[in-house]
Amino acid sequence: MTTQAMCLPSVFLNGKFMPLEDAHISPLDRGFIFGDGVYEVIPFYDGKALRLHEHLKRLQRSLDELEIDNPYSTDQWKAHIGALVEHNGGGNIAIYIQITRGVAKRDFAPIRGLKQTVFMMANPLPTPKRDVYERGISCVSLDDSRWLRCHIKSTALLGAVMLKHASNNEGADEALLFRDGYLTESSASNIAAIKNGVILCPPMDNLILPGITYELMIELARNAGLPLEVRRVSRHEVNTADELWILSSTKEVVPITTLDEKPVGHGAQAGKPGPLFWKMYELFQTYKRGL
Ligand SMILES: Cc1ncc(COP(=O)(O)O)c(C=O)c1O
Repeated sequence: MTTQAMCLPSVFLNGKFMPLEDAHISPLDRGFIFGDGVYEVIPFYDGKALRLHEHLKRLQRSLDELEIDNPYSTDQWKAHIGALVEHNGGGNIAIYIQITRGVAKRDFAPIRGLKQTVFMMANPLPTPKRDVYERGISCVSLDDSRWLRCHIKSTALLGAVMLKHASNNEGADEALLFRDGYLTESSASNIAAIKNGVILCPPMDNLILPGITYELMIELARNAGLPLEVRRVSRHEVNTADELWILSSTKEVVPITTLDEKPVGHGAQAGKPGPLFWKMYELFQTYKRGL
């Protein structure tokens, strides 16, 4: 690769690094036609990955669910991802990986043995600024109208897109989703509710994506001795919660301070990030500094 090419924002397509404008795929790619593919987003801080292994393991689980063969070994993934980070100058970036089943004549039934399409790009990691942590974000409650396999990190995201759009149309930043009266997650993040000093976490079943940030938060809370329960969380518990948090690789942990136009929390704390949030924020920043 020439020095000039190394300086350009570079993407990875099917084993080759190139400028984005040179990356082309067939319109018959099943990712384009059916959303028949999976993806990952891996955060890098100062060029260092947060939980690379866990992201690659989740990628494998998503591929297994769709019966798509993983085109690379873990070592090959690490080499390709490392090279992409380097080509894009390191720093704070999010590596996006997408694997689709490949290109075929349009037919619902997948043909066996297709060559997977593998695409990766690097984007700036838009972690929230300090004022977002201090202000928090707003959410609106919506029925979770997505499919029943939300544990697969599939590129078929129309349900999530429509819910995000609906929340923005109602003037909120994000949607808080409920299925049969219980909290699931947000359109692209996990949610935890804090009640009477206990962090309540919806279980990682087929109704939510097992977020890497969510798993990390649970681990940090347990290591710090913070009371935490993984169990179903009712709508009533969410509506009367002392604190609500939203978690993802790009957001890290952010407080939700308004739900359905009402302040979250009680008394002087209402509408403000709570004390447990600031504790978790510190634990998370300390963890990042140790990467
Ligand atoms: C539906 C959904 N839940 C949760 C998450 C958070 O996962 P992670 O912490 O691995 O970014 C995401 C991230 O894209 C998501 O799309």
